[in-house]
Amino acid sequence: MTSFVIEGGEPLVGHVRIGGAKNAALPACVASLLTEDPVVLHSIPQLRDVSTILYMLGALGKRVVRHESNVSVATGGGLKPEANAYSVGQMRASFLVLGPLVARLGRAVVPLPGGCAIGARPVDLHLDGMRSLGAYVEEREGVVVVSAKKLVGATIHLPFPSVGATEQITMAACLAEGETVIHNAAIEPEVMDLIDLLIKMGAQIAVSDRMIRIVGRSSLGGAEHTLIPDRMEAGTLLLAGGITGGSVSVSPVVPEHLGAFLLALRAAGLDVEIDGATVTARCVSRPIGIELQTSPHPGFPTDLHPPMAALLTTAKGTSWIAESVFERRFAYTESLRKMGARIVQDGKMISIQGVDRLIGQFVEAPDIRGGAALLLAGLAAQGRTVITGLHHLDRGHANLETKLKSIGARIERREEAT
Ligand code: UD1
Repeated sequence: MTSFVIEGGEPLVGHVRIGGAKNAALPACVASLLTEDPVVLHSIPQLRDVSTILYMLGALGKRVVRHESNVSVATGGGLKPEANAYSVGQMRASFLVLGPLVARLGRAVVPLPGGCAIGARPVDLHLDGMRSLGAYVEEREGVVVVSAKKLVGATIHLPFPSVGATEQITMAACLAEGETVIHNAAIEPEVMDLIDLLIKMGAQIAVSDRMIRIVGRSSLGGAEHTLIPDRMEAGTLLLAGGITGGSVSVSPVVPEHLGAFLLALRAAGLDVEIDGATVTARCVSRPIGIELQTSPHPGFPTDLHPPMAALLTTAKGTSWIAESVFERRFAYTESLRKMGARIVQDGKMISIQGVDRLIGQFVEAPDIRGGAALLLAGLAAQGRTVITGLHHLDRGHANLETKLKSIGARIERREEAT
C-alpha cells in the first residue's frame, strides 16, 4: 500500500512551477487519431492518465514517442477501430477516441467508460451527438459499436455544456461533410486548447459565446502544440499556501483561466496578486467563510470545489458550497469530518462551520480532487495525517510531493507491503 505521510502545521511559502493541463493533454493526444501526419505535443504532464491514453493510442495502431514532457504521435501500422477495454475502464476521457475513429474508419467499438466515482457520468450526450452526425449507435453488454458510411454536419443543442461531449462532437465534425453547429457548448479553457490544436491541424472552427461552428474537411494534417498550464494544479497549490497560513506563487498560469476561483480566494480574505503569468496568494489573516456554487466555465470549476472546501474548514464563520455539475462530489467530506471539520450535507449543498484547527488522521482519497482536499487538510492539520488511495491523486497531480516539499511541506510517500 502506498500512502502520503504528512506532518501538518507548517506554513508553506515559495514558488511552484505548474505543468501542462491534464484535461487538455488527454483530448490533444486523442486528436492525433484524426490525421496520418505526426502530432507533436509539448508540456505533457507526467501522469498516469496520460500514460493510459498514450498506451491506448499505441494499441489502436499509432506510433507514440515520449520524451520527458514532449510526445509525438505518428502513424504506425494502421489504425484499428477497437479500443482497449482496460484503458477505457481506467479513465472516462478514453471514450473520446470514439468520434475520431468513426470519422477516420467509419466504425468504432469502444467499451463504456470508467474514471472517478463522482456521479452517474453517462455518455448519452456523446452518443446523441454521434447520432446527429449520421452515425448508427448500438450498445451491447458494456460496449458501444458506432458506424457510419460518412458523417454529415448537423446542428446540435447540448442540454448541458458537457466538456467531453463538446470535445467528442467537435473532433468528429472536423472530418464530417458540411457544417456542424454546437449550441450550448462547453467553453472550458481545455476545450479551447483542443480547438486551437485542431485549427493548427487544418480544421475550420469558429467559437462565439457558447456556440461552436465547424466546417468539415476531407482530411487534417499534423501540428505542433504546447498545452495550456494546469489551472487545477495551480489552484490546489495556491490553496496549500492559504490553508497553512503561508504564501505561495505559481507560474506559468493564464490568470483568466482561474477567474472565478481567484475571486473566491479574495472573497475568503486571501491577498491575491497577479503579475503576468504568475499568481501569488498570501494568507494575511484567518480566511473567512464564503458562499459559492460550481458551474461550467467561466463559473467556479467543480474540480476546485473539494480543495476550496478544505480551505473553508478552518475559515472564520460559515461557508456554503452548492455543487451543480457532479452530484457525488462530496465523498471527501466524510474524511474531513474525521479530521475535525464541521460539514453538513443537504442534497447538492454543504455548509461548513469553520473550526480553529484540523487534527491529523488516517484517511483515504476517494477520487482525484477529493484526494487533493484531504492532502490540503493534512498540510494544515495538527499532527500526522496518512492518506491512502494515492492512485487517485497520481491520476491528476504530477510530482506533487516534490513540489510541496520545495515550499516547506513535510510530506513523504511511503510504500508498505500489504
Ligand atoms: C471533464 C473533466 C473533469 C471536470 C468536468 C467538468 C476531463 C478529462 N475531465 O469531465 O475533470 O470535472 O469536465 O468540468 O476533461 N453528462 C451527461 N451525459 C453525457 C456527458 C456528461 O449527463 O453524455 C453530465 C455528467 O454526468 C456531469 C456533467 O454532465 O454531471 C458534466 O460532465 P462533463 O462536462 O461531460 O465532464 P467530463 O467531460 O466527464
